[in-house]
Amino acid sequence: MYQAEAIQKAMDHFGKLLELQLKIVEQMKTEVNWVDFSVAKHIVIGIVGGDGIGPYITREAVKVLEYLLHEEMAQGKIELRNIEGLTIEERAKAMKSIPDNVLGELKNCQVILKGPLTTPKKGDPWPNLESANVAMRRELDLFANVRPIKIPVQGIDWIFFRENTEGEYILGSKGINVTDDLAVDFKVITTQGSERIIRLAFEYAKKNGMKRVSAVTKANVIKTTDGKFLEMAKKISKEYQDIEFEDWFVDIMAAKLVDTKRRTQFKVIVLPNLYGDILTDEAAEFQGGVGTAGSANIGKRYAMFEAIHGSAPRMVHEGRATYADPSSIMRAAVMMLKHIGFADKAEKMEKTLDICCQFEKKIRITGRPEGATCAQFADYVLDTLKAIDLESKWASYQR
Ligand code: IPM
Ligand code: MG
Repeated sequence: MYQAEAIQKAMDHFGKLLELQLKIVEQMKTEVNWVDFSVAKHIVIGIVGGDGIGPYITREAVKVLEYLLHEEMAQGKIELRNIEGLTIEERAKAMKSIPDNVLGELKNCQVILKGPLTTPKKGDPWPNLESANVAMRRELDLFANVRPIKIPVQGIDWIFFRENTEGEYILGSKGINVTDDLAVDFKVITTQGSERIIRLAFEYAKKNGMKRVSAVTKANVIKTTDGKFLEMAKKISKEYQDIEFEDWFVDIMAAKLVDTKRRTQFKVIVLPNLYGDILTDEAAEFQGGVGTAGSANIGKRYAMFEAIHGSAPRMVHEGRATYADPSSIMRAAVMMLKHIGFADKAEKMEKTLDICCQFEKKIRITGRPEGATCAQFADYVLDTLKAIDLESKWASYQR
């Protein structure tokens, strides 16, 4: 192809992408109210098992939910609904990240608890489809990815607010090979997209008495997009005089999360999509690994709760799926309970998980046969949850 032709083709492609992005900006400008769960008569929780270890760990989280919500389920206030058809096999068959009928079913739920889904990449045996996670976050407009990391014994109490629908992700499958030698991807940051995640982070800090918000970018190098995000963070911070605002570049932030003298000062951390992806895996590792961290994907209308890790095909391949750690998706279930208005049940479940994973640790999950299975771990969680001494046990570990 002649160079001029290649450039023209790339420009046409880019033009179409921009048209779509501008449409999304217009949509974001329209006012949407948050769903009020306190008046909801019937809440449908969609359950998606996912791929690899997904169905194994999701099943165990569902057991705990069924125990905690048995009354509400019996009264018809809560429904747990299995959503099939989102496995990688089904997606490959439909050649769609989320087959249309499945997307329809997801939209009939208010919230979703989801196991990890395989994300194909070039060279895999699967068609190189866009990640179903990324597609779901975009289709349901789940703009806030909220990821708490708590290690009480080390004084760590962080909550990450990761922007979830823009950045390098939104056009991650729409890059251009301009020629055989020149590949270009795009990063998108909008005023509206930045404002809503940053505001949510500050509001969370305010409501929860957290005195510091840290914004993380690479605005010294990625000047236009990260620059916009940082400017917005600075602007919004002025509205919250009681909250200290600071900004960090992502490289030094990655280092400071390891610095035991500094890291306990971080509280609420707000950041664009890809930096959030990376730093939250790092942060989860301190807590005991990605298998221990839950994640909430929140929008005004829908919300989806998941483990922060992937489907662990290696574990399945090596026959270790039954030894996967379900505490990540159980933590996600805690966030879901809180989101739909069951703060008491969420707190109970959270205390139980703290006891089982951080304090008492009667049984250990290692991901291998010398450790417990995920079903054994779920039994331990259920026994602890049902025990009458839960509160006093938890309190005894706080001293
Ligand atoms: C996550 C995951 C996803 C992401 C993958 C599976 C697309 O790593 O939720 O952090 O990059 O967002
Ligand atoms: Mg990730």
